[in-house]
Amino acid sequence: MIDDIRHIQDRALAGLSAVTTLDDLAALERDLLGKTAELSGFKKVMGTLDHDARREVGAALNAAREAISEAVAQRRSELEVVAAVARAESERLDLTEVRAGGDAGHLHLVTQTIEELEDVFVGLGFSVAEGPEVEDDWHNFTALNFGAFHPARDMQDTFFVGLGGPREVVMRTHTSPVQIRVMENQRPPIYSVMPGRVYRNEATDATHLAVFHQLECLVVDRGITFGHLAGTIDMFTKAYFGPGWTSRLRPSYFPFTEPSAEFDIQRPDGTWLELGGCGMVHPNVLSNCGIDPEEYSGFAFGFGLDRLAATRHGVTDLRELASTDIRFLEQF
Ligand code: PHE
Repeated sequence: MIDDIRHIQDRALAGLSAVTTLDDLAALERDLLGKTAELSGFKKVMGTLDHDARREVGAALNAAREAISEAVAQRRSELEVVAAVARAESERLDLTEVRAGGDAGHLHLVTQTIEELEDVFVGLGFSVAEGPEVEDDWHNFTALNFGAFHPARDMQDTFFVGLGGPREVVMRTHTSPVQIRVMENQRPPIYSVMPGRVYRNEATDATHLAVFHQLECLVVDRGITFGHLAGTIDMFTKAYFGPGWTSRLRPSYFPFTEPSAEFDIQRPDGTWLELGGCGMVHPNVLSNCGIDPEEYSGFAFGFGLDRLAATRHGVTDLRELASTDIRFLEQF
């Protein structure tokens, strides 16, 4: 009888390892351990045995039931993993597949513009750098030579984030903090462009957005002059818009550049568009980043990408760029 029980146990274990679905496993569990199971049949016979034999058979039956229960649990957890993997696989969405599918969509005009400008600058030997949109006061203001009570802090209508001390964390108001991050992490020569999203707490209208994009350009090397700055701005204007376009600089003020200028670009029809700010990197800014201003000089400029793209594509209201109207977006 003991041999019979062992034999049933061996067969059960072999059957369990051959089961491949959770449903089949549940059915087999009923067959092996339920009321009508082969093992349950031995209980009746046990009443006819003497004391010692009954103990022996009882122990063998318990051991067999235990071994089978353990094997069922083990197999169940294996099959659950297999089922979870299969479910994840069947529910998986490959978003790159959607993009590869012909007319299934395309990049937003602003993203296209960022990629195109990156290509222009990478072709000139610049690298591309990025930084966080949530910034600390040091990178967005202090390291850029905005003193604690510097009136120019009010030039940038700032969204403050409720983290840290009062006014310690901001949504970056410009891409210039990425200049600081690059200079803190890299020694000159530096030739970098830094595209990204920026935030200003101001009312939106046809020519202003509260969330918009800038591209910053930073060069730090030996012997860099204002001439290099003006030449680089004019070069990229022509590369992006075409040979009929030019640029001009007007004196201005930024705490982090000295001298500073605004730059405008001229359309072939003679009209001007205000695009951004620029200047020679202020010696204090270089020192703040551990770069010796006696040895190195640099220039920086930054401009609104949304405006640039809108001008080239004849979009007259910047707010359209933030719309989700597919009829508008499809045109580009
Ligand atoms: N960060 C300035 C702004 O957003 C633009 C700027 C960039 C000016 C680089 C000078 C140098 O207004």
